[in-house]
Amino acid sequence: MTDAVLSGKNYVVTGANSGIGLFAARRFAGLGANVALVCRNEERGRAAVAEIVATTGNENVSLYLADFSSLASVSEMADKLLLDFPKIDVLCNNAGGANGSRTVTDEGLETTLVTNHLSGFLLTKKLLPVILNAADEGLVRIVFTSSYGHFNSALDFEDLGLEQGYSTLKAYGRSKLMNLLTARELQNHLAEKNVVTSSFHPGAVRTPIWGKGGALARILGLVIYPFMKSTEQGSDTFIWLASSQDKASTGAQGQYFYERKRAEIAKFATDEDARRLWQASEELVAAYC
Ligand SMILES: NC(=O)c1ccc[n+]([C@@H]2O[C@H](COP(=O)([O-])OP(=O)(O)OC[C@H]3O[C@@H](n4cnc5c(N)ncnc54)[C@H](OP(=O)(O)O)[C@@H]3O)[C@@H](O)[C@H]2O)c1
Repeated sequence: MTDAVLSGKNYVVTGANSGIGLFAARRFAGLGANVALVCRNEERGRAAVAEIVATTGNENVSLYLADFSSLASVSEMADKLLLDFPKIDVLCNNAGGANGSRTVTDEGLETTLVTNHLSGFLLTKKLLPVILNAADEGLVRIVFTSSYGHFNSALDFEDLGLEQGYSTLKAYGRSKLMNLLTARELQNHLAEKNVVTSSFHPGAVRTPIWGKGGALARILGLVIYPFMKSTEQGSDTFIWLASSQDKASTGAQGQYFYERKRAEIAKFATDEDARRLWQASEELVAAYC
């Protein structure tokens, strides 16, 4: 699937106990990388570590716990990663999901916004010093799992938390638009560095995500289940962006991919919105840096 050999590389994969995150983490470990799995549930996380070690024979697989609906939890976990890894070669911002109804976290943020976007944004920001350490030695990558769902609707900067007109698909779609925009804006911020960012759509993939996002997601998942990709197929572009030496991958330049090719994006995924989102996100995570 990929031509890279990852021995000595440190990979961090969020949402790594399930679905395409688990498949990708297993592949990175199989190719010799040291892989840090970031998961919210200790039991599921430990099971994933054990399964990856058993199937790959690579014992350099570790577990870090954080609930991505809490910026404080992500910040604390990021501090542990910073202590343990003097360099991080690849960060995969993959954790995410949908929410059946609008809820607000103890930190006062809409749950999908913080889980799918702000937590990855904060994690990336906090890990940047060790990411840049790795960039001194070779090409470093930051991959964001976005979605075709980003086509749902443009961002409303007056109401990023969707106090008005919440729906599961709108909240999910906008968070995935944020992933795409963040990858692109981050590339601009790191233009002079040896870092490549990217985002991708995995396709509709047969993973547990469809059962976790409320009734609508469950029904949608059941209807399209027969047509979905396997986790192997769904993680192919993910693994390619995170590890291949293919020039289209190493030259991803902040762009959005599907099936290893640059893909069409929504017209409202503008550079201006990417800049505005960056600024708004900086403000929202400032207390947790
Ligand atoms: N499957 C698809 O068709 C599809 C299509 C487009 C995009 N995606 C994107 O692909 C990514 C991976 O999803 P998947 O399909 O592989 O689904 P999945 O199997 O449900 O994996 C999602 C991962 O994110 C974790 N996660 C969710 N909420 C979290 C939280 N609050 N804190 C920490 N971790 C959390 C999950 O942990 P738990 O196991 O504890 O829930 C799980 O490890 C997501 O970003 C999703 O939006 C999927």
